[in-house]
Amino acid sequence: MNSDTTSRRNLLKAAGMAGIASLLPGLALADGRKGRPNRKRVLRFAHFTDCHVNRYGADAHWLAKALEQVNDLKDRPAMILFGGDMIFEGNSVDAQAMRDQWSEFRGVLKNSNAVPVQYCLGNHDIWGWSNRAVSPNEPLYGKRWALDTLQMENANYSFDRAGWHFVVLDSVSRFRMGYIGKLGPEQLEWLGQDLGTHREKPTLVMSHIPLLSACSAFFGPSERPFGWSVPGALMHMDSRHIKDMFNQNKQVKVAISGHIHLVERVDYNGVSYLCDGAVCGNWWRGPFQETPPGYALIDLYDDGTWHRDYNKYGWQPAA
Ligand SMILES: [Fe+2]
Repeated sequence: MNSDTTSRRNLLKAAGMAGIASLLPGLALADGRKGRPNRKRVLRFAHFTDCHVNRYGADAHWLAKALEQVNDLKDRPAMILFGGDMIFEGNSVDAQAMRDQWSEFRGVLKNSNAVPVQYCLGNHDIWGWSNRAVSPNEPLYGKRWALDTLQMENANYSFDRAGWHFVVLDSVSRFRMGYIGKLGPEQLEWLGQDLGTHREKPTLVMSHIPLLSACSAFFGPSERPFGWSVPGALMHMDSRHIKDMFNQNKQVKVAISGHIHLVERVDYNGVSYLCDGAVCGNWWRGPFQETPPGYALIDLYDDGTWHRDYNKYGWQPAA
């Protein structure tokens, strides 16, 4: 499911011969998303987003189950990308609660996962932004606690793997006592430079908050008398700028996110924007709207194409 390759295969089958592909209008090959018949898979990874592990309850048990399922797969992914909101909630809590949540999360990773991981920060991984009792002078204030715990040098970074380029963005910008999805001028400049110097590799971009999303409108009540109103906390406020950058960098094929706890795919101007459901589903109370607790397995191919499956891992309510 969710792969353009299926539609291309059907198209070729319907045409009766693979050779006709070269006669078809540019749609199939121009944006690289349809897949070569002899394409090779170069990497499989899992996207675990919105785990929201709390310091008590069954959360850690179920994250462990999901990780063990992935670790036990015969076709095991080569890495796991954590999409943010690893812990339940950091902004409003004291230092002890922060410590407990991270130690719970780290404990699960240590005991139930042997696959290499990369992290992206989410809004709930940040300490103190909405809690006046936490001083901004605390050494671990804001993003520092998560960065140190996860041994990340920066919240935004990039790396190469299996012929693909991966860009991890820091979605979360402070806005008053809360946040909005925004990169800010420095990170935007970094992104432009990073994409500009990696044009030869198909590229995947990961953010916590969706860069472009339809399901953001369904997260809460967004219907207003005058029309739809989607908060800047639910979709990046600088999406226009970012999609212009992607337009200048056609190697960007796919952008993955979480945050909304809903599965969706939006294709726009040659980029597929995939939002994945949450490991915690509806914050450990079952499915969130139509999306069950789960994680995505994403295959990347040598021709810049991809395939995503969203998998349940067997979450059950407490008996
Ligand atoms: Fe979340």
